[in-house]
Parts: sequence; C-alpha cells; structure tokens
Amino acid sequence: MTKTILVTGGAGFIGANFVLEWLRLGLGRVVNLDKLTYAGNLENLTAVQHNPQHVFVHGDIGDQALVSKLLQDYQPSAIVNFAAESHVDRSIHGPEDFIQTNVVGTFHLLEAVRAYWTQLSTVDRQAWRFLHVSTDEVYGSLMPDAAAFTEQHAYAPNSPYSASKAASDHLVRAYHHTYGLPTLTTNCSNNYGPHHFPEKLIPLVIHNALTGKPLPIYGSGQQIRDWLYVTDHCAAIRRVLEAGKVGEVYNVGGWNEMANIEVVKTLCRILDSKKPRSDGKSYAEQISFVEDRLGHDQRYAIDASKLHQELGWKPAESFDTGIEKTVDWYLANQDWVNNVTSGDYRHWVAKHYAERGEELA
Ligand code: NAD
Ligand code: DAU
Repeated sequence: MTKTILVTGGAGFIGANFVLEWLRLGLGRVVNLDKLTYAGNLENLTAVQHNPQHVFVHGDIGDQALVSKLLQDYQPSAIVNFAAESHVDRSIHGPEDFIQTNVVGTFHLLEAVRAYWTQLSTVDRQAWRFLHVSTDEVYGSLMPDAAAFTEQHAYAPNSPYSASKAASDHLVRAYHHTYGLPTLTTNCSNNYGPHHFPEKLIPLVIHNALTGKPLPIYGSGQQIRDWLYVTDHCAAIRRVLEAGKVGEVYNVGGWNEMANIEVVKTLCRILDSKKPRSDGKSYAEQISFVEDRLGHDQRYAIDASKLHQELGWKPAESFDTGIEKTVDWYLANQDWVNNVTSGDYRHWVAKHYAERGEELA
C-alpha cells in the first residue's frame, strides 16, 4: 500500500509547490484539503488534476467532522499543515479571519488528529507525524546587528498575523507536551517563486512593473527580509518529516538577507534585460515610496544551522538563481497572473465545481 499524507492549504503558494513536488517525486498519495479562500487557486494544481495520487477535498481545517472523516477514509500517516491566512497587510485590516483559521482552525485540526491518533496501534502511533508549517515572524523584529533567530529565540509576534501563527505554534507544542502527539514545527523565512499570489512584494512588483503601475515601497524600503526559494522550503519540510525529532522545532532560511529596496531594484534590473520597457527606460522609474505598514517589522533573519547540522538540509538555490527562475516563471505564465488579478480563477473554480455538482460562490 502506498503511503498517504494529508496536506492542508495545498492550493496556496507553498502548499501547491509542495504537492506538485511530492507527486513529481512519486512519494505517495496526497489528500489535499483546502478551503479555497481568495488565496487558494486550483489552477496551481492543473498539472496534477488527473493524477490518481492526488485527491482534492474542498473544506476547512476547522471542520472537525470533515477532518475526522478524511482521516478514517484515507488513513494518512502524516499531516502537513500549510492552511492559514498568510498576508500581514490583510491581518492589519481585518484580523478576525486570522484568528479563526490560524488559531481556532488549527485547534480543531489538532483535536481531530488527536482523536484519530489515539486509537491507532502503538507502532502506527509512533510513526505518525503532525508537521506544522510556521513562520519566522513569530520571533518578532531584529535590531540591525542582532544575531539571527535560532529555535531558542523568545516569541515576540508583532502583527495580528504573526500573533495568530504564534498561538498555533503554542497549541502544537502543547499537544505534543500534554498528549504526546508526534509533532514537528518548522519556522521559515520569506519564500518566493512560482504561484506566489501577487499581493506579496515580489510577485506584486513583477506584475506592476509589466503593467506600467507604480512599484510601492513601504516607508524607507530599508526593512530586511531573509529570502528562500519555495522549493528549498518544500525540501526542508520533506526532510523534517522524514528525519526530524518528534516535538522539535526547526528554523528554515536561506542565509539571504536583503533590504526591500534592493529586492525591488534587482527585479527591475532582471526585467530590464529580459523584457525591456518600450520607452527604453528602466522599470526602476516606476518605484514609488508609499506610507509604511503599521507596526512594520524592521528585520527578520533565520539561523538554519540546526536543520543543516542535524538533518543535512541546505538550500539548492541562491537568491540570484532563484529570483531569475521566478521572473522567468512569471513571464511565461502571464495567463495565470491575469486570471488571478482579474479574479477569473474564481470563475474557473465555480465552473470546475459546477461540473462536479457543487455550487461554489
Ligand atoms: P497562501 O495564503 O498562499 O495559501 C494559504 C492556503 O490555505 C490557501 O490555499 C487557502 O485557500 C488555504 N486556507 C486558508 N484558510 C483555510 C482553512 N480554514 N482551511 C483550509 N484551507 C485554508 O499561503 P502560503 O504563503 O502558501 O503559506 C502557507 C503556510 O506557510 C502558512 O501557514 C504560512 O503561515 C506559512 N509560511 C509562509 C511563508 C511565506 O513566505 N509565504 C513563510 C513562512 C511560513
Ligand atoms: O517571514 C515570513 C513571512 O513572509 C510569512 O510568514 C508571510 O506569510 C509572508 O506573507 C511574508 O510576510 P512579509 O510581510 O514579510 O511579506 P510581504 O511580501 O507582504 O512583504 C515583504 C516586505 O516588503 C515587507 O517588509 C513589506 C514590504 N512591502 C510589501 C508589499 C506588499 C512593500 O514595501 N510594499 C508592498 O507593496
């Protein structure tokens, strides 16, 4: 019998990349539970839509009855929990969905898993894994000369998004400590790459550049993020799932700190050479400094030595190779971008489900 895993949030940016890679590598069956919020896009999964090893289920991690049924029906040996509200700016405008999915949803997911896991045989219980995908933002903001975040760094989340992710991390920790649930938590830095929703800095800048719009830089543009190519994050998750020590936390990062303004200028340079503006000017002309994000964290940096030393993981891509691949993907997949920005992917989803006898608004 092939191994089955349950992935949540597998129609989003990182989750979809993870599912595509898992199936490409032939690692077993994936049951993919996704609520298809605005960030969930079945077009990300077109390549596997006819793959019998991929079972897509439209639903909410907070629906305990549904999750319990999926666990009973498919008997997965692990869950990888990507499902979350993920955009900091949206959490500032409206935190409630973040509490609902990231905190309450994770709680219900854990409860469903606990009930299922408890009645497994001792051998199956020991082999089971709940891998929770989290973020470096739970550690708060670093001073310019401070050492990068290790797994020992105290939690100090600053946005409603990071506070909700911190709460979910604590719940996962508590379910291990109290009930012995075999959990693993990964805290990763900023990802970039294919299928990244164009509300986040890198895909937004590529899209705005190509459509002649301003490239908005919050505040001074001197805030620092630590960038990791998405498939490197997926490889780290696979490695932690395979060999991580139960109950442990692993930081994941690319040793790749850059100020936002540098990221945007790099994108402009790459686009200038790959897709020059018709007037011969640089895309950098479109840079526009705008009002800062409320409570904007100044710097994130991840120390991923534990993952490297204990499990042998290191990123395959440098920022130079990863960002070039990313720009190439966006240039080659303008239909995907247009469908997302026009909202057409929603119509596609409605049609897709209408064909299967389900109404989807
Ligand atoms: P995303 O917003 O692109 O995708 C989230 C996915 O979760 C979507 O498909 C959405 O439909 C689904 N979802 C949302 N609420 C749900 C619910 N209640 N039930 C089921 N599905 C639901 O996010 P992403 O950038 O791919 O991030 C995935 C995970 O990785 C998140 O947990 C995020 O906190 C974490 N993370 C992201 C980054 C990053 O740079 N993007 C870095 C570190 C960690
Ligand atoms: O660090 C990991 C986190 O990275 C993940 O947990 C989040 O889910 C993910 O969204 C990301 O959060 P950020 O807030 O760092 O990503 P974002 O792309 O929104 O912003 C990156 C930086 O760029 C940040 O300092 C804000 C700035 N920015 C962002 C946008 C959208 C701008 O200057 N202008 C913009 O228009």
